[in-house]
Order: sequence, then C-alpha cells, then structure tokens
Amino acid sequence: MKKIALILLFIAGCVYSFTGCVYDKKEVASVNTCDTTSVSYSLTVAPVIATNCTSCHSTNAASFGSGGGIALDTYASLKSCADSGWLLPSINWQLNLLPASYNTMTGLPADNMPLGTPKLGTCDLNEVNAWVNQGAKNN
Ligand code: HEC
Repeated sequence: MKKIALILLFIAGCVYSFTGCVYDKKEVASVNTCDTTSVSYSLTVAPVIATNCTSCHSTNAASFGSGGGIALDTYASLKSCADSGWLLPSINWQLNLLPASYNTMTGLPADNMPLGTPKLGTCDLNEVNAWVNQGAKNN
C-alpha cells in the first residue's frame, strides 16, 4: 500500500510540475511577444485600426467627415489605402514619402496619423508595417 501511495504521489508531482512549466511558458510568451512573422489582418491589424483610427476613418455617417472622407474600417478600404502608398508614411510619420497622388486625389493636407495623438506603439507599428510589406493580405 505504501508503495502505491508513493507512486501516486510521484505521478501527482510530475503532473503538477508539468502544468507548472506549461503555465510559465505561456506567461513569458504573452509578455514578450510582438510577432511580425505572418501578421493577420483579422486578428492583429483590424483591432489596431479599430482602436486608433476608425473613430475618424469609418464609412459610418457620423465619423466619415472627420477622417477627410478616407475610410479604413473594412479590409477593402484599408487595402486600397495601403496599396496607394498612403498608409505607411502616414503612421510612420514620414510624410515626405507620401506619393504626390495623395494631394492631387484628395486635395487634403497631409498629417501624421493618428491625428492629434501620439504615434502608434512600437509593436502595433511594427505589426502594421509587416502586414503591408507581406502584401496586405486578407488573412
Ligand atoms: C481624430 C481623427 C483622426 C484619427 C484618429 C485618425 N485620422 Fe487619419 N486622417 C484624419 C483627417 C482629418 C485626414 C485628412 C488629412 C488631414 O486633414 O490631415 C486624415 C488623413 C489620413 C491619411 C492620408 C494621409 C495623411 O497622413 O494625411 C491616412 C493614410 C490616414 N489618415 C490614416 C490613419 C490611420 C492609419 C489612423 C490610425 C492609426 C488615423 N488615420 C487616425 C483624421 C484622423
């Protein structure tokens, strides 16, 4: 009987330390990860845009005007902004890299985005940059 109890104790200890390890790994991953290897539109980019941009850049009637008539709230609209070369100079605060098409097409001034607030956080910025450079996929 004693032996069985010892074996059970041993197994319980193993299970405990195993789950302990798994838990530790998860914790480290969630603190340190800024994964730019294959950035997802739906999981990563859309939430960044929703948090920082669509209050002004949405086709929603109330906010459309406050974004100069530029919508970014759907995949198609964000993709077309990325493809025209407007998105990255704007969020990277490199307006000298905005193509001339921007002013001629919109007649609007160019400003760093998000308008009137600090630059996006480094991780958000790296992820959006990577997503565009990976082809702005609908993934
Ligand atoms: C407070 C409102 C507001 C917010 C928030 C905002 N924008 Fe804008 N955005 C504008 C306005 C207004 C314009 C039209 C040009 C101007 O007046 O500067 C504009 C223009 C742009 C342009 C055209 C090029 C340029 O830089 O002027 C891009 C691209 C853009 N915004 C992307 C974004 C992105 C991406 C975000 C979020 C990270 C964002 N904007 C957040 C109001 C906003």
